[in-house]
Amino acid sequence: MTVFHLRAAGVSLVLDTRGDAASITHWGTDLGELDPPDGLFTPAVPPSSIDVPLRLSLLPSLVEGWSGRPAIESGHGLRTVEAHQHEQTAVIRSASPDATQEVVTELELTGQGVLRVRHRFTNRGHDEFVLPNLDVLLPIPAEASELLDFTGLWSHERSPQRAPLRHGIWSRESRHGRPGHDDAFLMVAGTPGFGFRTGRVWAVHLAWSGDKRIWAERSALGYSVLGAGELTAPGEIRLTPGESYETPWLVAVFSDAGLDGLSDRLHPWIRATSELRRPRPVVLNTWEAVYFNHDLTVLGQLADAAAEVGVERFVLDDGWFTGRRDDRRALGDWFVDDTVWPRGLHPLISRVHAHGMEFGLWVEPEMISPDSRLATAHPDWILDSGPTWRWQRSLDLTRAYDHLLERLTALLTEYPIAFLKWDHNRDLLTPGVAHRQTRALYRLLAALKQAFPHVEIESCASGGARIDLGILPLVDRFWTSDTNDPLDRQSIQRWTGVLIPPEYLGGHLGAGTAHVTGRTSALGFRLATALFGSAGIEWNLTAASPAEKADIAAWIAEHKRLRPLLHSGRVVRADSPDPAHLLHGVVAQDRTHAVYALVTLGTPAAALPPPIRFPGLDPDRSYTVRPIGVPPRTMQDAPPPWLAAGEITLPGRVLTELGLPAPLLTPEQALLLELS
Ligand code: DGJ
Repeated sequence: MTVFHLRAAGVSLVLDTRGDAASITHWGTDLGELDPPDGLFTPAVPPSSIDVPLRLSLLPSLVEGWSGRPAIESGHGLRTVEAHQHEQTAVIRSASPDATQEVVTELELTGQGVLRVRHRFTNRGHDEFVLPNLDVLLPIPAEASELLDFTGLWSHERSPQRAPLRHGIWSRESRHGRPGHDDAFLMVAGTPGFGFRTGRVWAVHLAWSGDKRIWAERSALGYSVLGAGELTAPGEIRLTPGESYETPWLVAVFSDAGLDGLSDRLHPWIRATSELRRPRPVVLNTWEAVYFNHDLTVLGQLADAAAEVGVERFVLDDGWFTGRRDDRRALGDWFVDDTVWPRGLHPLISRVHAHGMEFGLWVEPEMISPDSRLATAHPDWILDSGPTWRWQRSLDLTRAYDHLLERLTALLTEYPIAFLKWDHNRDLLTPGVAHRQTRALYRLLAALKQAFPHVEIESCASGGARIDLGILPLVDRFWTSDTNDPLDRQSIQRWTGVLIPPEYLGGHLGAGTAHVTGRTSALGFRLATALFGSAGIEWNLTAASPAEKADIAAWIAEHKRLRPLLHSGRVVRADSPDPAHLLHGVVAQDRTHAVYALVTLGTPAAALPPPIRFPGLDPDRSYTVRPIGVPPRTMQDAPPPWLAAGEITLPGRVLTELGLPAPLLTPEQALLLELS
C-alpha cells in the first residue's frame, strides 16, 4: 500500500494507505509534487493516551482510540484490505476482523477541486445486520476555529449563524423528512473572521434530501473534523446477507479565498455536471396572483398580461385539481377539476401557447389530504398519525409509487406541460421511514425524467425547505423561498447562492406590498432583487399600472440580454464594513463583462457610505461602469459626479482596490451597475 495524492485546481487530498487503516492526512491547499518520507504523517504519543500514535482513519472509531463521534458505531475496528487510485478517484476497501462487515469508500476530487466522499457498507455475514449510523468524516486543521452554518424558518431560510469551534461538537440534525427551512445546508469551518473574499475555509454539504446530521468537532485529542451522514432511526437500515447501504455523497470544498472561493469551485462543478436547459425562461407563477380562485377568464387575462411584458413560461399553481378550493382538502386527487375546468386545462394552455409561452403545472405528489378520494380508497397509504400539518399528511411513496407514476404520466401525456413545480408542504413526522421515502422520491423523479426528458421540475418545499445536492441532479430549479419580499430575499438568495448557482434559484417579482411580510417596497428594488436568478413574476399583473408594466417589460428585456452572463459567470460578494450595505455581482468567466447590485438594507452607519469596490475584476483591464435598471431613490444634495455623468472608465485594479464613491441610497434600494 502507498500514499495517494489527488490534486486539482489548487486542492490536494493526501490519503495514506500504508498503516492498518487508511487515513486522510491532508485536505486543503495543493502541496505540489509529494514524496513523503516515512513518519511525516505520524504524530507524537502524548502522556495518558494510547501507546501508539493516534491517526484518524477513514472510518474513525473507538477501538482505534478516537473518542470523538465515530464514523460507524459498529464496535469493530475496520482495517484497510485493498486500496487503489484511478485518475482522480481513490477507492478503499475496509473490513472488520471477522470479515462480516465491509465498507468501500470512494473519494473523488473533481477538476474544480470539489471533493466527494461516500461509503458503501455490505453485510458479508450470514445474519441480518442492523446498520447503525454511517457517516463520512474529514479532518480539518486547527486553524479552522470559526464555524458558519445556517438555520431558518418558513420564508426566512438560510439565516447564517457563526460560533467559535471549541472542544466538543457542534452538530445539526434535520428530522423533517426533508432538509427543512432550518437546514444547516453547509457546515463551514474557517480561519477566524473569514468572509466572502478572505480567509481559509473548509466546508461540507450532504447531498441528501431526507433526514441527516452534519457537524464539526474539535477533540481534546488534537484533531478537528467535519462530518455528515444520513440520520437513520435505530433499526431503519436492516441488511440481509449480501445487501448494501450506500451513504449519500459528502460534498466537501476548500478555499483560501473565503466563501466566494467555495462558490468558485461548486458552481462550475454543478454547471459542468448538470444538464440544465439554457437560457432559463422567465416565469409567471399564478400563486400570489389568484391563490385558489381558478377561473379561465381571469387566468386567461393574466396570461395575456404576462405575454405582453415578455414572460416565457406560465405556471398554474395549486388549485386546479378535483375539489381543491382551499388548502384543507383534495391532495392526492390528481385529476383536473371539471367543475372549474369543464374543458380541462386545454383552453388555458392553448391561450398560453398562442402567446408563445410554455405551460407549467403545480403538483404535490408526496402528500395526501385526509379529505380526499385517495384517502378514502387507500387509508393504508397514509404515513403520519400525529397532527395534520397544513391539513395534510404524507403519502407512503413505496406503496403509492405506481399510482403516482400513472397519474403524473397521464397528466404529462394528456397536456403539453413543460414544467412541474413539485411542492412538499409538511414535515414527515413518522420515525424510521425517511430513508425509504427519500429513495422512493428519487426513483419517481428519475422515472419521470426518463419518460419525459423535456419536462423540467422545480423542487419546492414550502419555499426553500428542500434545496440540496441530492435532489439537484433530478430537478432544474429550486423555489428559493415563499417570501417575495425583496429585503428578505436579498439575504436568502445571497446565502443560498454560496452553494447553488443563481440560474437554479427562482426569484420572483412580487406585489408592491409583499404578501408574506406586509412590507411595501419600491418597484426598482423588487426588480433588481429578482434580476439575477431564474427570474419570474408572482403578482397579479392585470392590476399593474401601465407605467409599472413598462418597467417590468424593460426589466425582462434586460434580464434576457444579461442572462447569458448572469447564469454562467462567477458570483462575487463584497465584505461590507457597513451591514446596511450589500454589494454582489456576477463577473463573466473571461472578466470582460460584469453586473453588480449595490443594495441598502437599512439605515447606513455614516453620512457617507463606503465606496463601491468591485470584487472579481481583471486588475489590468479597463472597464466602463454604467447604471442600468430603474434608478434607486436617493437622499443627497449632490450625487457622485461619475454617476451624474452617466459613466466612468477605469482600470479594474482601481475599481477593486479604491472603488467608486457611492450615491446615498435610502433604505431598501438597489443600484444596478453594468461593467464592460
Ligand atoms: C407552497 C409553495 O411554496 C407556494 O409557492 C405555493 O405553491 C403553495 N405551496 C401552494 O399551495
